[in-house]
Formats: sequence, structure tokens, C-alpha cells
Amino acid sequence: MIYELKLLSESDGPRAGRSPVRAVPAGFGLSYSRDHSKAQVLADGFGRLHTYLRISLVEHCNLRCRYCMPEEGLDWTPAPRLLTQEEIIRLARLFVQQGVSKVRLTGGEPLLREGIVEIAAAVGRLPGLRTLAITTNGLLLPKKLSRLKAAGVNLLNISLDTLRPDRFEAITRRRGLPLVLRAVTQALDAGYTPLKVNCVVMRGVNEDELADFAQWTQDLPIAVRFIEFMPFDGNQWDESRLYPYQEMLDALSRQFALERVADGPSETAKTYRIPGFKGTVGFITSMTENFCEGCNRLRITADGSLKVCLFGRAEVSLRDAMRGGASDAALLEIISTAIGRKRARHAGMQNLATQVNRPMITIGG
Ligand code: GTP
Ligand code: 5AD
Ligand code: SF4
Repeated sequence: MIYELKLLSESDGPRAGRSPVRAVPAGFGLSYSRDHSKAQVLADGFGRLHTYLRISLVEHCNLRCRYCMPEEGLDWTPAPRLLTQEEIIRLARLFVQQGVSKVRLTGGEPLLREGIVEIAAAVGRLPGLRTLAITTNGLLLPKKLSRLKAAGVNLLNISLDTLRPDRFEAITRRRGLPLVLRAVTQALDAGYTPLKVNCVVMRGVNEDELADFAQWTQDLPIAVRFIEFMPFDGNQWDESRLYPYQEMLDALSRQFALERVADGPSETAKTYRIPGFKGTVGFITSMTENFCEGCNRLRITADGSLKVCLFGRAEVSLRDAMRGGASDAALLEIISTAIGRKRARHAGMQNLATQVNRPMITIGG
């Protein structure tokens, strides 16, 4: 299938399918009155403390997964409109100073970002940061793993939706399964255990591989997480393609004795162990059982917008604020206001399917 990418445009006007980024008022750096105690900046109106920041480093990817990228391609953000290395590090420092203890670098495919090792090293050095994570498709991991480990990356999640080479190519529109499997082996050898493997499950595409993935965890300390297919702009989500948690659980329970494991309050996955197996299986149930109540996540997109909810349209451009000369205090004011407006939970399944959001590749999961 031919996949057309539009040429980069110099203009940064509104793009189809993009949610509007709220403009920052002129003079915002000059006066503010709220006390930015740590808890106040990161807390929302529902008592949730946001200690986990996902930073997208690039919009593009070396795969073309059908559930992530629109068929017709994307109007990529021109490079000057993406956050620079210095801007990323400044924002990470600001959030960590406020109490963020976990940063995840995402994309697109984050390992395509020039300077990722330097960015990881700078973020990894921030006092107070406990977890520096990356979600990657694994293709470039064999090349970069040792440098990322030395830079302080201590948690890796690898995306892999099939164990079959022909199917890998059908889903991702690229070849590469052997390289991803090599990445899994090298990450395990390098001590990244349990290694999380994210598998988006789609009816009629790969739901017949649940048992193969589960079997994979018998001898390897891999935490496979089966993810319900979620709708994003341009990914042709259809309810008939959703393979719900309960059905996955029923299917796997017919072959394995699943035992529920207690998960942390902000965990995205519901985890199960199989007696005698080294790994675990989990389910990320955004569509049928949302886990918003324990949400501790914030997102910064590659073009510098703060998104307080994966499924929320609200965004505020920290890039524009920084480039307009905002002080750290002024940035905190903007951040605190955005978090204060976060909703209790995302819209229900039918609303998610029709609402405007970004394409997943420009959010970073
Ligand atoms: P860990 O921190 O290792 O547990 O990973 P994670 O689940 O937070 O992040 P990852 O990048 O591995 O994402 C796995 C899946 O969870 C992806 O499909 C994400 O879109 C989804 N996910 C992550 N955060 C959220 C969230 O806040 N809300 C919803 N609905 N889904 C999320
Ligand atoms: N539904 C569910 N998960 C998705 N991901 C990307 N697009 C979707 C979607 N439409 C997953 C990727 C990656 C993680 C960051 O998000 O597979 O593992
Ligand atoms: Fe948090 Fe929004 Fe995800 Fe719900 S959908 S868990 S509120 S980011």
C-alpha cells in the first residue's frame, strides 16, 4: 500500500484534526499571585497528584502502524516548531522540581530523536527523579541500548503487536520483527526486567495471538500488556475492531490459570500472573473500564503543548510561553491552571470515537 506523506509546510496554522492550542496572553510573565507550593502545582481538583510526565521527543516514526498513524499521512510540524533539547530539559527540570518522580520519553519513535542520549542523561541527573522510562518500537534499541542505560534509563516498554513476521509487516507497513525480538532479548540481558511489552489487540487482526504472547512469558520475565484498541484522529477505529478486556480475559482463562495481582493506584494495566511463569500478562482497558480515578499522568507533545489528559482536547503551548520569554514562575502558573482544569475522567467510548483529538503518533501514548 502506498503511504503518502505531505511535504512539511512552513506555516504553523491550524491543521486538520488538531485541537486548538490555547494562546498564552502577552505579559503573562509579569504578575501572578498563586502560591506555587509543590502539591498545588501538580494537584488537580479531584485530589490527583501528577507525578508522572510523558515527554514526546519526535512526531515521526520508522514504522507506520495502522492504528497509530492516519492512512493519508500527516502534516508534520516543521522542525523549528518542535521543542529544542534545551527547552525539553528546562521543562523536565521544572516539573521534577515540583515533584514529578517519573519521566517517560515517547514519540512517535523516541529513539529517532537526535540527541536522545544527551536528553536522557540530562533528565536522568535531575535530583528527585526516580524513574526514567522510554516507550519504543525497539527497532533502534540494539544500537542505542548501552548508551541509554549509561544515561540512566531504568525502565523500557517495547511495543509489539504480533509474533508473526508477515503480520508484523501488515500491521506496521514495514519489516522488522527480527530486530524487535533482538531488542527484547538485549533489553532482558541488560537487566530491564520485568520488560513491558505493549500489544494493541484488534479483532480480526491479532486476537488469535493472545495465547502465544502469554506462552512467551513462561520462561522470560516479560510483562505483556494487552491494550484495548483506542480511537484517535485518522486511525479508523471502529467498535467492531475493539476486542474488550472481558473477552480477552475469558479467552486466556480457557487456557491459563490467571491469578490477579494487586496493582498500584496509578497503574495503567490490570495484571495477572500464571503459576510457574516468569512473566505476567496485563490488560490496559481504556475503553471498557477506564482507570482515570488514579491518573497521575501529564503529557508534553513534541511541539511543546501540555496535555493533561490523553483524550482531552485541552492543550496549552509551553513552547510559545517559553519563546515569549516566560519565567519559570510564569510557566508554573500556566501548568497549574491547566492541571486545575483537568476533568475527572475521559468521555465514554462512543464520545471518544467521535471527538477531535490529535493522531496518536503526535501524542506519544
Ligand atoms: P508504565 O509506566 O511502565 O506502566 O507504562 P505506561 O502504561 O504508563 O505507558 P506506555 O507508554 O507503555 O503506554 C501503554 C498504553 O497505555 C498505551 O496504549 C497508552 O496510550 C496507554 N496509556 C498510558 N497512559 C494513559 C492514560 O493516562 N490514559 C489512558 N487511557 N491510557 C494511557
Ligand atoms: N490504541 C491503543 N494503544 C495504542 N498505541 C498506539 N496507538 C494506540 C491505539 N490506537 C500504543 C502503542 C505504544 C503505546 C505508547 O501506545 O502500541 O505501545
Ligand atoms: Fe488520565 Fe485522561 Fe488517561 Fe483518564 S484518559 S487515565 S484522565 S490521561
